[in-house]
Amino acid sequence: MTFARDSRYDALSMALHWLSAALVLIALALIEMKGAFGKGGGRDLVKLLHYQAGALVVMVTVFRLGWCTVRRAPKASVAPGGVEEYVGRMVHWGLYAALLAVPVAGVVALLAAGKPTVLLGIDLPVWIDGGKAVAKRYKHYHESVANGMIALLVLHVGAALWHRYVRRDAVMQRMLPGG
Ligand code: HEM
Ligand code: HEM
Repeated sequence: MTFARDSRYDALSMALHWLSAALVLIALALIEMKGAFGKGGGRDLVKLLHYQAGALVVMVTVFRLGWCTVRRAPKASVAPGGVEEYVGRMVHWGLYAALLAVPVAGVVALLAAGKPTVLLGIDLPVWIDGGKAVAKRYKHYHESVANGMIALLVLHVGAALWHRYVRRDAVMQRMLPGG
């Protein structure tokens, strides 16, 4: 199958998509590993690496949203104005919102917890007054929105695979380099 040049995302959009997907999966895998360690060394290290991967997600997402405003978007992949287009757009914007909201809630939880932490080489300030309650609340937001994000990702990846293997149309190729 051949595709017109603008039926695919541009190379930078693809690179940013796969980089953020990898970072989100790394952040999730690291925090899942937490349970395998007792209190202390290994557990603190996987948590610290989780924070760094999550902070990189925010940086990539901010850059990606900036690029969205200047790039030439590819042609619609499904019938314009239909339910599929609408649902697809909602899921994509939901994912962008979660790519920012989840890490930001995590950072607020850390700031409020009053435990000194380094984020991408920067010492986070420690916020003391009433910190514990705020930390608990934002940790809860962080985990709830992350669970919502996982549900959206299941829909998103399921839709991509459905287009690729059931419908056998070109939607998946829009985000893949080559051919
Ligand atoms: C953490 C993982 C992921 C996140 C956060 C994510 C997020 C997104 C977002 C926000 C878009 C919209 C791009 C735009 O129009 O600006 C998108 C598009 C896309 N994603 Fe993902 N994605 C992830 C993983 C995946 C995976 C694993 C696949 C494939 C199995 C995939 C396939 C696609 C495809 C094919 C599109 C283009 C859809 C279209 O507009 O035609 N994504 N993704
Ligand atoms: C896209 C990025 C991120 C995702 C998907 C994510 C996801 C998660 C999930 C699912 C949990 C709950 C794990 C469990 O069941 O115990 C969690 C815990 C946590 N995350 Fe994140 N997170 C991200 C980024 C961040 C960032 C940037 C920070 C802060 C700098 C952060 C701070 C935390 C904290 C403090 C916890 C609680 C850890 C504990 O139980 O002690 N996260 N995260």
